[in-house]
Amino acid sequence: MGYRVVIAGATGNVGREMLNILAERQFPVDELAALASRRSLGTEVTFGETTLTTKDIDQFDFSGWDIALFAIGSEATKKYAPIAAAAGCVVIDNSSLYRYDPDVPLIVPECNAEAIHGYSKKNIIANPNCSTAQMVVALKPLHDRAKIKRVVVSTYQSVSGAGKDGMDELWDQTKSIYNPTSDVPPNKFQKEIAFNVIPQIDVFMEDGTTKEEWKMVVETKKIVDPSIKVTATCVRVPVFVGHSEAINIEFEEFLDEDEARDILREAPGIMVIDKREAGGYVTPKECVGDFATFISRIRQDSTIENGLNLWCVSDNLRKGAALNAVQIAETLGREVLKKG
Ligand SMILES: NC(=O)c1ccc[n+]([C@@H]2O[C@H](COP(=O)([O-])OP(=O)(O)OC[C@H]3O[C@@H](n4cnc5c(N)ncnc54)[C@H](OP(=O)(O)O)[C@@H]3O)[C@@H](O)[C@H]2O)c1
Repeated sequence: MGYRVVIAGATGNVGREMLNILAERQFPVDELAALASRRSLGTEVTFGETTLTTKDIDQFDFSGWDIALFAIGSEATKKYAPIAAAAGCVVIDNSSLYRYDPDVPLIVPECNAEAIHGYSKKNIIANPNCSTAQMVVALKPLHDRAKIKRVVVSTYQSVSGAGKDGMDELWDQTKSIYNPTSDVPPNKFQKEIAFNVIPQIDVFMEDGTTKEEWKMVVETKKIVDPSIKVTATCVRVPVFVGHSEAINIEFEEFLDEDEARDILREAPGIMVIDKREAGGYVTPKECVGDFATFISRIRQDSTIENGLNLWCVSDNLRKGAALNAVQIAETLGREVLKKG
């Protein structure tokens, strides 16, 4: 016996990837409903060999459904997640709406799977921001060995992190550079993204950080350890899929780069590709479609007593969203619902 599963946002970047991953990982699905807004009523999406027709979320009755994987943005989630949860369907949400709610667990299964039991307060579980998810998978095993004091991270985030409209904007602007008759002004992004980089993701906060940077700080504390200090600079780059991060870590104790490499090689969800030669590292293009978070360029930071640098790359639509959400559903099934 399997689960009755709802995908809310099935026509979006994350929703389509969730359908792929449920099929790839053979999640025990008895019945699947694909939902989106009324705009997409009747749009076809695929789940393995099956074609599903998208239904209007506004007309959908969540009662009798076990799990709903949401990827519809905070505004729509605010309206529909409480309806699904009240109908007894456990919501696993990709938006930022519930991430900082003390009554909602924020889960990356490689780091804090045990937090799953907190789901019952609201019948909702939150999925972290894409840039946080891949970073904490790398931080957790190192923290368990040498206790992290401080993290300095710079991100290089792909346009798919801003949804399908973000991908279209990069594509259209790139084409317009070769065909100058069609001007494509910035819309989804604050400045032109083609052949450019933009040091702003999400809105500015009062202290000059951006909301994306703030999310990395707060979410790392909630998932790994509140004592870890994080400072982040988040940058949008003209890459379609795959986020990259240059991470500098300061530990309480000395951690040798070779031991760190061995720890990461053994850690769940991580693949180490770290040859000290031209091309001996992973770039975002190479991580697309993969489940792993890739770690390269592991090296001592000799400017501080106990420091390491590393390079972290992952498919933001997978570990940063859809894969993590499905892993949460797997954990929920295994630890709580026990149907599969
Ligand atoms: N992309 C990433 O790397 C990433 C990572 C982590 C978290 N997330 C989060 O995941 C969510 C979805 O992101 P995305 O990248 O998949 O965006 P997207 O490609 O723009 O897709 C948005 C989806 O939400 C649906 N939707 C929008 N408004 C709706 C409404 N009022 N009622 C019902 N459905 C509605 C859309 O349906 P229509 O087609 O009918 O408009 C579409 O299926 C967001 O909360 C985002 O912050 C994304």
